[in-house]
Amino acid sequence: MLNVMIDGKKLEAKDGATILQACQANHIPIPTLCFHKDLMPFGACRLCVVEVKANGKWQVTSSCDALIKDKAEVRTNSDKVKESRKLAAELLYYKYPTTKAVRDMAESLGVEVAEGKAEGSDCILCGLCTRTCHEIVGVDALKFVDRGLGRNVAEPKIEYVADACIGCGSCAYVCPTGFVKMEASGDRRMIWDKSFKMVACGKCGRYFAPEDQLKWISKKTGVPMSVLTVCTSCK
Ligand code: SF4
Ligand code: FES
Repeated sequence: MLNVMIDGKKLEAKDGATILQACQANHIPIPTLCFHKDLMPFGACRLCVVEVKANGKWQVTSSCDALIKDKAEVRTNSDKVKESRKLAAELLYYKYPTTKAVRDMAESLGVEVAEGKAEGSDCILCGLCTRTCHEIVGVDALKFVDRGLGRNVAEPKIEYVADACIGCGSCAYVCPTGFVKMEASGDRRMIWDKSFKMVACGKCGRYFAPEDQLKWISKKTGVPMSVLTVCTSCK
C-alpha cells in the first residue's frame, strides 16, 4: 500500500493504482466521460483532471491515466481543478450542445447550459466503443480514423468495419451518448446499419444472440454450436 495525501487527508492507495482509482477507492468523486473500469485509459475528455504536487509545484493532470506514487499529494477540489474541468466541459458542450450526456456533465460542472431539448446523440469520440471492441470482444470492428496526426487535421471519426463485426452489441451498451444504435426486429438485429440473423434458444425459443457471434465464440473456444445455442437463462 502507498501512503498518499488527497485533499489534505492521509489515505492509502494500492500500488499500481491510477490517481482516479485511488480517489474512487477512497470515495472521492471525480467526473469522467471516457473512462471505464474494465478498459485501458484513453485520456480524451479531460474531465477527470486533478492537481498533483511535483517538485514543489502543483500541476494539473488527468487522473485516469496517471499512476499515483507513494507520498503523492493530490488536490481534487481546488479552484484550479474546478476551472479546468469546467473548461473541458465547456469545450464538449460547444461541440455537442444537444447531446444529453454532455449537457448533463457540463451543467454539473457549472457550465451555463441553454434551454432546449437534449435530443442529440453525437459521437463525442470518447473511444469507449473502440476499446471495448478491441480489448473485451477482441474483434476490432471499430477504429479511429483521421486522428489529426502529422499534417492530417481532419476531424477524427469512428470507422465501422462491417466484415469484422459479429453484432454482439457491446459498443451500443458502452456508448455514453446513444450514438451507437442497436435495434431488434423478429429474428434480426440491426447495428451500425448492418443486419444480423439472431439465433433462437433451443429450449425457450427466445432470440438471444447473433449467429455470427456464436460462430465466432465457437471458433475461438472450440465449444460446438449445439452447446452455444441455448441461452444463459436456460443453461
Ligand atoms: S460511438 Fe459512442 S462510445 Fe464510440 S466514441 Fe462515439 S460516443 Fe464514444
Ligand atoms: S476520464 Fe480521464 S480523460 Fe476522460
